[in-house]
Amino acid sequence: MAILERINRWSGRIEAVRRARRRVMAPLLRVHSASYDAPELREWERRGWIGAGEACRLAAASAPREECGRAVLFVVTLGPWKVGRAALSPMWRHLGIPGIWVGGMVVEPAVRGSGVGRRLLDEIVRVASRLPGVGEIWANVREDNQVSLRTFRSAGFGLVPRPDWEARIAEHYLRCGRRSGKRDLIVCRTIKSDPGLSAGPFG
Ligand SMILES: CC(C)(COP(=O)(O)OP(=O)(O)OC[C@H]1O[C@@H](n2cnc3c(N)ncnc32)[C@H](O)[C@@H]1OP(=O)(O)O)[C@@H](O)C(=O)NCCC(=O)NCCS
Repeated sequence: MAILERINRWSGRIEAVRRARRRVMAPLLRVHSASYDAPELREWERRGWIGAGEACRLAAASAPREECGRAVLFVVTLGPWKVGRAALSPMWRHLGIPGIWVGGMVVEPAVRGSGVGRRLLDEIVRVASRLPGVGEIWANVREDNQVSLRTFRSAGFGLVPRPDWEARIAEHYLRCGRRSGKRDLIVCRTIKSDPGLSAGPFG
């Protein structure tokens, strides 16, 4: 019992530290976005936010560029440093899976737990809700990636059972040699976009 109490006390303190770091960092974070053929990407490369060719790799997020259509890339910065990134694209289109997906979301290990992932997702939701014809956004998360699941949940995503998509994604990872033995879960967030506009940038 004493051990359990201690663990609880320590995890309470860890949570408090996380909240404090989040408060301090929040006003310093900036989220930048650009479509993958935008001229700003040259500047992003110059600043070291993306490496040569990374824009393409991010956009494609494991799918060949020409099959994935257009993408919007997001980079979070803290002063001069890049601390997070993700892409929004129809990245599973080549597997016959429709929809716009968040892919390649990574936060710099040194600042994980400080609100960068949440900020990234909030901005992705905000941008997606201004894109015509996008009613929801999707992501696949490995079942044992609790932090990622929590990040998506905290940004309003919910688990959606899609065994058909899960199977296709698992098969794809197998073909690419990424056999983890773990299932990918599908999460989704509904967004309110302008229903009057039908041909979005991902069309
Ligand atoms: C997943 C990832 C992007 C999250 O980014 P992050 O900046 O660490 O997340 P945040 O600080 O915004 O925290 C988001 C939520 O997760 C919780 N969280 C973050 N780190 C945590 C940890 N180590 N333990 C428990 N909860 C944690 C936060 O409390 C918050 O939840 P809340 O809003 O309910 O309080 C980041 O951990 C990462 O890059 N992981 C490796 C790559 C990866 O797994 N990418 C996702 C692929 S789908």
